[in-house]
Amino acid sequence: MKSIVILISGRGSNMQALLKAKLPCRIAAVISNKTDAEGLEFARKHGIQTAVVSHRDYSDRASFDAALAQTIDGFQPDYVILAGFMRILTEGFVKRYYGKLVNIHPSLLPAYGGLDTHARALHDGVKIHGCTVHFVTPDLDHGPIIIQAAVPVLSHDTEKTLAARVLNEEHRIYPQAIRWLCENQIELDANGRVVLHRHKQSAHSLISPGLE
Ligand code: GAR
Repeated sequence: MKSIVILISGRGSNMQALLKAKLPCRIAAVISNKTDAEGLEFARKHGIQTAVVSHRDYSDRASFDAALAQTIDGFQPDYVILAGFMRILTEGFVKRYYGKLVNIHPSLLPAYGGLDTHARALHDGVKIHGCTVHFVTPDLDHGPIIIQAAVPVLSHDTEKTLAARVLNEEHRIYPQAIRWLCENQIELDANGRVVLHRHKQSAHSLISPGLE
């Protein structure tokens, strides 16, 4: 059975969705860069080992990332799952875990990388927004896409209502993506694109229920 480590910085609702999904893998640990990350308590209550590597204890990104990698490697995970882990990672860290490091981002990448994705989508008047699970590459919020969910933008949407609908989809697609990974359903091809063995299943999962 594969094992995963989940990295969080705050609320941890995606981490909770992963824990509740009863995935076919061992959740070796939940690690946070913040001692007061709300999600840590949830993980502890569910019997998951937790660890904190505070970025405040390190003078630069490289030394923080080295300490983080040491902690991660102590759990010997097959995959490192970023679930609202709000730190920019160094190229060295990302390369060390290439093909094993997965992120969820609240937009349809490559559109709206970075912060404030919902406000920017509303500002631009896009009609379709969403979320993306992808392998992490040194380019921030880029990398081979595993799954996306589209969310229609409604005329009365505020940042809050749109964020809530996107988050619902995040909670649906992240467990799906990690399930595929743990079941060896996903491969990265020579062009750095994701190949999914169960094409039919993915076709249904890509579209949010409102658009089906
Ligand atoms: C989620 O919306 C996730 O997509 C986003 O942070 C939120 C964390 O919520 N991640 C990023 O923006 C990464 N670039 P959560 O802690 O409740 O899972």
